[in-house]
Amino acid sequence: MEKLFKLLSDAQASLFVLFHKTWVYHWNVVGQDFQQLHTLFGGQYETMFEEIDRLSEHMRYLNVKPLSSLNRVLEVSKIKEASSSANAESMISDLLQSNNDFCDIMRSISEEAETQKQYATANLVQDLMESHGKFVWMLRSFTDSGSKKVQEEIEEILEFEEQIIEEVEETTEE
Ligand SMILES: [Fe+2]
Repeated sequence: MEKLFKLLSDAQASLFVLFHKTWVYHWNVVGQDFQQLHTLFGGQYETMFEEIDRLSEHMRYLNVKPLSSLNRVLEVSKIKEASSSANAESMISDLLQSNNDFCDIMRSISEEAETQKQYATANLVQDLMESHGKFVWMLRSFTDSGSKKVQEEIEEILEFEEQIIEEVEETTEE
């Protein structure tokens, strides 16, 4: 059980840092996608706030004390703090990486919990894995292969169509 308790305690710290990082980016993001990113990060930090509470209360049920010292949280977290110089693009890739890392942490706890037949713990961390997997998908949709590129391609096609129409009109006028 000791190993599982340690994993849960470290995971609580990682989730706390990821929550804080997402919240900081929610305030500090700038640029043409401001409104969408501000809202996306906002929804994610609100979800994480609930998740920290659920995880910490589950730890109390297992008779483990959740971390209360912020120094200790930063010491054991596997996820790094927010970067103060991040632009919108680096915020997205940072959160993408951190949420992916968090899913990996949840996967290893799930395996350990199932080995120890702690099914309630396995169920909880699997829920968190699904939730952060969804965050990964949403963040990935903002990268260059996502919505922006599709929008640019649509604009190029429309411009090309306009050119053809103009050329056809010119030819018929002649
Ligand atoms: Fe807000």
